[in-house]
Amino acid sequence: MIFYFSGCGNSKHVAETIATQMNDTLVFIPEAVRENRYDYTLSEGERLGFVFPIYAWAPPQLVLDFIKKLQLSSNPEYLYFACSCGDECGYSEKIFRKAIAEKGWELKACFSVIMPETYIGMPGFKLDTEENARKKIDAAQITMSRNIPRLLNRETFSDMVLGRFAWLKSYMINGSFNKFATDDRKYLANDKCIGCGKCVKVCPLQNISLEDDRPKWLGHCTMCMSCYHHCPTNAIQYGKGTEGKGQYYFGK
Ligand SMILES: Cc1cc2nc3c(=O)[nH]c(=O)nc-3n(C[C@H](O)[C@H](O)[C@H](O)COP(=O)(O)O)c2cc1C
Ligand code: SF4
Ligand code: SF4
Repeated sequence: MIFYFSGCGNSKHVAETIATQMNDTLVFIPEAVRENRYDYTLSEGERLGFVFPIYAWAPPQLVLDFIKKLQLSSNPEYLYFACSCGDECGYSEKIFRKAIAEKGWELKACFSVIMPETYIGMPGFKLDTEENARKKIDAAQITMSRNIPRLLNRETFSDMVLGRFAWLKSYMINGSFNKFATDDRKYLANDKCIGCGKCVKVCPLQNISLEDDRPKWLGHCTMCMSCYHHCPTNAIQYGKGTEGKGQYYFGK
């Protein structure tokens, strides 16, 4: 079983690649949360995987909250995670290990897959060029081909891109990011909005409703930026931080 979260499709691609090669099944975390599904039965020896993007040098809070509530029929014998990131993960592995240790579970393997950047909500953050994004996706195939067989063989390993100043980023900046940079009141749709409802459909958290043909953000955003990236007219902006920065989602 593989629990996964994805905003813009990068982690979904990673999760689907793992599931196909391991002949495993996928559970989309936001759907499980919506349906209040926290109880799962593991068969004997079944591998348990988590796949998610890195948000501010940590696993998304949504994933950590899900783990807190998760109830398994038995302790997983082989538990792993794979994360997708734009360039570096900081101490995401440590944070994940702590979250599962609180459940009495142990991490056996983890790896990061560098994929095109999706975060552009603040000044200074920008998307990859198209060429760079293509190169990252090609390199991601190699990372996955190296690591998925190791999961199949139940190896114990860690293949993560840590980056510099990991402690500062994962423990100090992450806290401030979650507190101050995930406020969806800064989202707006400008005059280019045609009222198509695509933003409503692509929000994994169902955090957008359409009122008078304009999106309204409902206050439980995870800042995945899927609404911004999928809008067909690029009408969605996040304050002044996103203007003129372009759009990306996996498979665009
Ligand atoms: C809110 C947010 C924060 C992010 N923080 C990081 C980060 O700390 N390190 C990093 O390498 N990438 C970061 N990224 C980039 C994503 O991790 C990366 O693009 C990922 O592949 C997106 O996955 P998804 O398409 O499944 O949502 C961030 C993206 C978002 C939306
Ligand atoms: S996706 Fe864009 S154009 Fe369509 S309703 Fe949302 S903001 Fe408007
Ligand atoms: S409102 Fe936009 S950024 Fe927030 S969770 Fe939904 S799609 Fe992601």
